[in-house]
Amino acid sequence: MELEKSKYRSIESEAIAIIEGDEELKKKLLAICVLLEREVEYYDWVGFYLTGSRPRELILGPFVGTPTIHVCIPFGKGICGQAAERKRTIIIQDVSKETNYLACASDVESEIVVPIMKGDDVVGELDIDSHRKGPFTWEDRVLLEKICLKLGPLMK
Ligand code: SME
Repeated sequence: MELEKSKYRSIESEAIAIIEGDEELKKKLLAICVLLEREVEYYDWVGFYLTGSRPRELILGPFVGTPTIHVCIPFGKGICGQAAERKRTIIIQDVSKETNYLACASDVESEIVVPIMKGDDVVGELDIDSHRKGPFTWEDRVLLEKICLKLGPLMK
């Protein structure tokens, strides 16, 4: 899907204002979910997974959208687990073609997962599901990676 370049710029500056604000971390994360889900019509579920006390495990954090059964995902499992393992963004434009996938809702067609790094460690992820096939562009990736890059140093 094509969004205006100015739209990406305005979302980015709103996200940066949230990140640089005074709220506690969880509130900032939720505010970013709300912003992204509200501003991009093909972002249908927006949430964060965070690494917890146990190693190589992702725990569901703040999110906007349908509740998911996948509240705890081991590294390597599903798209989220693969992104954590590889320490890089994964875009699946058609989830029906992905075998290592954890289904949350039957209306999800595509997904993007961006790791949040602190130094060399994955400390969380931004996960977005879409009800459309093939919606994610290079600009989506750049926007979401910029947000995650800014979030990294804030994470525990
Ligand atoms: N589909 C993800 C699981 C998380 S839900 O999308 C919220 C995966 O395959 O890792």
